[in-house]
Amino acid sequence: MVNPDRFLADLHKLRSFGAAGVGKGVVRPAYSEADVAARRWLADQMRAAGLQVAVDPMGNLFGLTEGPSLLLGSHSDSQPEGGWLDGALGVIAALEIARAARENDGPPVSVVSFQDEEGRFGVTTGSAVWSGHMSQRQADALTDHAGVPLSQARQVMADMVTGEVDPAQFTGFIEMHIEQGPTLDTSREKIGVVTDIVGIRDMKFTFEGQQNHAGTTPMPLRWDAFQAVSAFNTLLNERFQNVVTPQTVWTIGHVSLHPNASSIVPGRAVFSMQWRDADADRLQRMEQIIRETAQEVAVQRGMQLSYGPMLGLEPVAMDAGLQDALVQSARSIVPDSWRRMTSGALHDATNLSRLMPVAMLFVPSIDGISHAFEEDTCEADLVTGLKVLAQAVGLRR
Ligand code: GLV
Ligand code: MN
Ligand code: MN
Repeated sequence: MVNPDRFLADLHKLRSFGAAGVGKGVVRPAYSEADVAARRWLADQMRAAGLQVAVDPMGNLFGLTEGPSLLLGSHSDSQPEGGWLDGALGVIAALEIARAARENDGPPVSVVSFQDEEGRFGVTTGSAVWSGHMSQRQADALTDHAGVPLSQARQVMADMVTGEVDPAQFTGFIEMHIEQGPTLDTSREKIGVVTDIVGIRDMKFTFEGQQNHAGTTPMPLRWDAFQAVSAFNTLLNERFQNVVTPQTVWTIGHVSLHPNASSIVPGRAVFSMQWRDADADRLQRMEQIIRETAQEVAVQRGMQLSYGPMLGLEPVAMDAGLQDALVQSARSIVPDSWRRMTSGALHDATNLSRLMPVAMLFVPSIDGISHAFEEDTCEADLVTGLKVLAQAVGLRR
């Protein structure tokens, strides 16, 4: 039987690594001091639970049981400003279930906390490398917004690395997560069984114009990189109208102006462009529109245009058998309070679906808020999720 008090205590303890901001906020980006300290603490908990700790060169942390096992988990890194549950919930639920399974002669369960799911360097970088979606060499060349290469950042965990971890020992993967959107909170349902995860594309763009004096440079003689980003955004929103659905999303979430001063016409703008949809063809059409629009703006406004590497993951379906196990469990624990749903957020489960059967379950997010300090879920709902997952993997209640 799982122990809800122990599970909640561990979840609060994990939050103490990088606790920040209002409410239950967390700042624990991949390879930061807080992230590495949290991984060392997690490794200790895994050992105490009788699991064998393994860390691969990316810093993905595993707690392994003997022989073939089901893998449970998620990630313990956070966004630059994140909440206490995104990723952490799935890792601590996995730890509690693996521990309870060993105490109660339950099924073999291993635990994982993937590294850099939140994309300091890429898109779900740790599980992308572990699953073979991206090579270590490709990943090492990625840089964060400050220009630090992943090859350098991951050295902070070098003393923890034990070697590669063979995926063949796992019979499947289940990731429990907060929904991070409004669906369950609005419907007042307790459990979401995920049917599929949308796809994503993510790219860096640079407009290079001419830095100049903000007082003396007449408007027609400016090559202002911010104005180019602004024009690009307006045009793109217009052009997407005939292509997108109400579920399609796109975001310019990071903009860096050079030199970023009030009295200087900015000469360079580097910005992120990310788009997500459940249909791979639509992602492709959007890419074409994005590239054409950026080109057009560059020509009209006298900008040099350059691109960073295009990162992405395809939309994927969850395994029918594992979904059924979650549905059976939800039906018996919260009979009228669950639904099947698509995940609009990305997860390590997408990468793992290349290797093994995968499934996911969601619990509600209060007011649908996530990737923000305000992210939260009622503790009773967290425990309901834990019990649904435990029963689905075959632990007695
Ligand atoms: C994962 O955190 C995502 O961006 O969906
Ligand atoms: Mn997450
Ligand atoms: Mn996240």
